[in-house]
Amino acid sequence: MGDADSRAEVLILLGPPGAGKGTQARMLEERFGLIQLSTGDLLRGAVAAQTPAGMAAKSVMEAGGLVSDDIVLAVLKDRMQAPDVSRGVILDGFPRTDGQAAALDGMLADTGQKVTAAISLEVDDEAMVGRVAGRFTCASCGEGYHDDFKRTARQGVCDKCQGTDFSRRADDNAETARARLKAYHAQTAPLIAYYEKQGVLKTVDAMRPIAVIAETLQSVVANGAG
Ligand code: AP5
Repeated sequence: MGDADSRAEVLILLGPPGAGKGTQARMLEERFGLIQLSTGDLLRGAVAAQTPAGMAAKSVMEAGGLVSDDIVLAVLKDRMQAPDVSRGVILDGFPRTDGQAAALDGMLADTGQKVTAAISLEVDDEAMVGRVAGRFTCASCGEGYHDDFKRTARQGVCDKCQGTDFSRRADDNAETARARLKAYHAQTAPLIAYYEKQGVLKTVDAMRPIAVIAETLQSVVANGAG
């Protein structure tokens, strides 16, 4: 975040697969003009582009494991050079390990910044498998939907861009979702205590409807996250 405004928001969304990080990040992006930075999306982009990082990440992602810190930090740092990031960011799915959290603190310290809030989306594991397995995305604009919880208003037509092509992620099946949950509990959940110690942790009940959670998150951001 080279030329970043030192007051820019740096929000972290923590939570297991299916917790709603992407759904809520996109809504916060629209509401506050912040930039959603999803390491999952960045890595999927690298896989699609068949870059060396993407080729190394592909099999790990398909198995539901965590991609190495070196690769994740390289793709994130690259994205953080872009000028739009100075508007403030919502980190969706990053950091996920102690090493990534320390690297983020270092990156922010270089520009006199720090994490504004780390928001932990609290959910039941079993429900997450169903959320992930029912997910689909507009191939044109990336808007996310769910077979049961967030359908398109007109069947087969994206509400946002009227696109008619949709896709499902290769890792959105019950077996891989369970592996991703395991990785979350082993390597990412400990970061909740890390951000609590820093005094920036907010916990949110993310078993409620999408719109209700969005209201809670918007008031966290609007009232000053820190
Ligand atoms: P990533 O893309 O980050 O996936 P994830 O963390 O597994 O999270 P998801 O995208 O599955 O879930 P979400 O919380 O965004 O939920 P969503 O809003 O879509 O990572 C994929 C892989 O990349 C990882 O497994 C790893 O290999 C690698 N990776 C990424 N970042 C990494 C990192 N930093 N380090 C190492 N490896 C990394 O919602 C899910 C569904 O539920 C949607 O259909 C939605 O409509 C619905 N829904 C959302 N909220 C609700 C609600 N409140 N009620 C009912 N339905 C809801």
